[in-house]
Amino acid sequence: MKKKLYKTAKDTNLFLKNFLISQKKTELLKAMKYGLLPGGKKIRSKILVDVGKIFNIKYNILIQIGAAVECIHAYTLIHDDLPCMDNDDLRRGKPSTHKKFGVSTAVLAGNSLLTLAFEILTNKNLKISDNKKILIIKYISNCSGHEGVAGGQYSDLNFENKKISLSKIKHMQVKKTGRLFSFCCIAPLIVVNKNNLIKKFKKIGEDIGLLFQIADDLIDHSGKAKIAGKKTKKDATKGKATLISLLGYKNTIKYSKKLKLNIFNELLKYKKKSNDLKQTIEFILNRTN
Ligand code: IPE
Ligand code: IPE
Ligand code: MG
Ligand code: MG
Ligand code: MG
Repeated sequence: MKKKLYKTAKDTNLFLKNFLISQKKTELLKAMKYGLLPGGKKIRSKILVDVGKIFNIKYNILIQIGAAVECIHAYTLIHDDLPCMDNDDLRRGKPSTHKKFGVSTAVLAGNSLLTLAFEILTNKNLKISDNKKILIIKYISNCSGHEGVAGGQYSDLNFENKKISLSKIKHMQVKKTGRLFSFCCIAPLIVVNKNNLIKKFKKIGEDIGLLFQIADDLIDHSGKAKIAGKKTKKDATKGKATLISLLGYKNTIKYSKKLKLNIFNELLKYKKKSNDLKQTIEFILNRTN
């Protein structure tokens, strides 16, 4: 699994590097590359590749769409670390982008990574019809804005030091993390015109994203900063509303195992074709970074 993840990360980074080479050199580029390329797992790109495999989609198309998702993800991480949000100094084992380049540069590098995603998705080298591109952009925009990551991040900060119900915490986590994973599960369906499956895969993606965020919270609770590449034990200090804060550590692990089995059940129909996706989901739950 690690090898396959490494390959997707390498291919996604290579595509991104070449795409940036084709653009003008600017002062912001250094900070953008810093937040985008080194150290990230590129797991969203891997989920796209895994779902794309179920539907026999060309690898190259998946990597390009995955690269766009990783730009948006990198922007959300740069902003997530800012002093006005989680105020974190360490990301992917290095100083966070604002620590290295300053807050205003980090904000602008984040903004530029968000819009870079749309440049990638509208590029002529992405060989899918314009109608499909429009639909893909419609979904990725929705997953990133107030109904998705930005809205979820708003709630995450707003919920600090408050008693929040289980359903509200899950809803917040699905928005801040799940919706981007859900996009990764939907995009391949748009490419192959299987729009009737979008509802099912939207839910699968949200559940994978929720599982991913729960695993992230478990790492924060009991992981080591050296392995995680970011400071741990910060959620409790900040009073973050997580499943762990509500249910406790052991019950959260139980919950995550049940969630994983539910996702596997949804994938039964795809038999061997979904093996890679199942391996990635298994990795998500057992990861240490
Ligand atoms: C971290 O995401 C932020 C969350 C949504 C929990 P990743 O763990 O995917 O971060 P990188 O890209 O691998 O550093
Ligand atoms: C961030 O969640 C989710 C995003 C959408 C960026 P966290 O705040 O828990 O992510 P880390 O732990 O800083 O990576
Ligand atoms: Mg956060
Ligand atoms: Mg954070
Ligand atoms: Mg975290």
